[in-house]
Amino acid sequence: MSLTTEINKRRTFAIIAHPDAGKTTLTEKLLLFGGAIQTAGAVKSNKIDTATKSDWMEIEKQRGISVATSVMGFEYKDIKINLLDTPGHQDFAEDTYRTLTAVDSVIMVIDCVKGVEIQTEKLMEVCRMRSTPVICFINKLDREGRDPYDLLDEVESKLGIKVRPLSWPIGMGKGFKGVYNLYEKKLNLFTPSQRKLSDDRQVFENLDDPQLDALIGPGNANQLREDVDLIEGVYPDFDVNDYLEGKIAPVFFGSAVNNFGVNEMLDTFIQIAPIPQSRETDLRKVAPDESKFSGFVFKIHANMDPNHRNRIAFLRICSGKFERNKPYNHVRGPKPLRFSNVTQFMAQDKEIIDEAFPGDIVGLYDTGNLKIGDTLTEGENLVFTGIPSFSPEIFREVVNKDAMKTKQLEKGLKQLMEEGVAQLFTFEMGARKVVGTVGQLQFEVIQFRLKNEYNATVEFHPMNLYKACWISCADKKQLDEFVRSKNRYIARDKDDKLVFMAESKSWLQMVQDNYPEIEFHFTSEF
Ligand code: G4P
Repeated sequence: MSLTTEINKRRTFAIIAHPDAGKTTLTEKLLLFGGAIQTAGAVKSNKIDTATKSDWMEIEKQRGISVATSVMGFEYKDIKINLLDTPGHQDFAEDTYRTLTAVDSVIMVIDCVKGVEIQTEKLMEVCRMRSTPVICFINKLDREGRDPYDLLDEVESKLGIKVRPLSWPIGMGKGFKGVYNLYEKKLNLFTPSQRKLSDDRQVFENLDDPQLDALIGPGNANQLREDVDLIEGVYPDFDVNDYLEGKIAPVFFGSAVNNFGVNEMLDTFIQIAPIPQSRETDLRKVAPDESKFSGFVFKIHANMDPNHRNRIAFLRICSGKFERNKPYNHVRGPKPLRFSNVTQFMAQDKEIIDEAFPGDIVGLYDTGNLKIGDTLTEGENLVFTGIPSFSPEIFREVVNKDAMKTKQLEKGLKQLMEEGVAQLFTFEMGARKVVGTVGQLQFEVIQFRLKNEYNATVEFHPMNLYKACWISCADKKQLDEFVRSKNRYIARDKDDKLVFMAESKSWLQMVQDNYPEIEFHFTSEF
């Protein structure tokens, strides 16, 4: 098969949602449709319950589950679908951001009872930054939810994206009768079932057909006619290019747990969702159909067995063909790398593969050479951009409680940071080490894993810090002068980049006013 055929066959996406909206359930139904799993209940939720938040074994168990479900590949109607999982817990937001750099589109699940929730808003911000195409699935229509028009308004106002319903619900909760597919003009009647795979859809080109009244009752039929008239009048025709440019989100209604409305969304998804797209690098844009291979690492997962230090690096293929055992240019590193153990994830199984194509995600067994953001190429020295670190929100000083294990601690911290668990900043003065995270849970994870995997004991002491700002200046002399005068607040990040550790918002503002020539950045990529 030609490279172009392989590319056209692929769709790589993630499902994003506020916890509990139904991401795991929808994932499972998609896998059922793809024939990748046979029974409901096979996909485990990877959410970390707040109730079990400080239960270490629970965290470890979750890590195990999340590696198994990190990428789920399946085929549906000759399309190879790569579905990337994102952690539901907000403390792992950075992990989710990085995963979103590796997809070409997303499906966003919204609970019709709760509407747009806070985590959904944050995730949408990331999609907007990258103009990622979004399809909305409004879930749990079998419950008494909010009015569909209100929900659409809320999506538009809270998520800042225009919507275009492509299906419309008939009733809700106990009175839920089904959905009408506005795109295909087909009616799908609701029968609650967790296993039903083929929906019997009836085509109604003309909604005035009296058969409609017979099927759903005259009241519902009239309401549907009114709704469809209104929608077609209010919303412009669906333009697939607006969706592909991230300007408009098509909306589907359904009930994931009852496997209802999922089929319609999936059928539309494979028709409209983008094939693997071009990606920016520091030198130029790389197109997927370039003959030479390139890709980047967006996630690293450590082995849970402390006796085996190897890790799995998740690589998104961006162009060309990736081949097992072929040496590739590790752009950041000193020597080419060759991978003999390359896995691809099909549903919940891993299989060794010999080649992979743009849009695919492969797992590379790594003994410590790779870190998040690394680029591999077939020769060219380019680096994929758009995988920044964000300024953390919580900072703690790392205090070594066992001086005999300093080396282990250093190694453990370095490796955990390479995995992207958190960010480490080392102050220029006194070499104090500070860990920055977006959530509380990471500190517990780090402390536990340092002990468990590296036999190092640490405590975390609170630090009064507001933000870590990466600094730059066109004039090196001025930058040196700033670093000298503020050296108590200067640290280095994991890549040795200069960072200004600001204690408060107002103080940062003052420093910015006093040093207008210095640029302060809230992400590591500028
Ligand atoms: P998440 O991954 O987004 O966190 O959500 P998940 O799929 O785990 O779903 C959260 C809860 O919502 C689950 O119930 C699930 O069964 C339920 N759910 C998902 N889709 C629907 C739907 O269409 N209708 C209704 N009524 N419920 C739905 P749970 O009680 O937490 O777990 P379980 O015991 O049912 O598995």
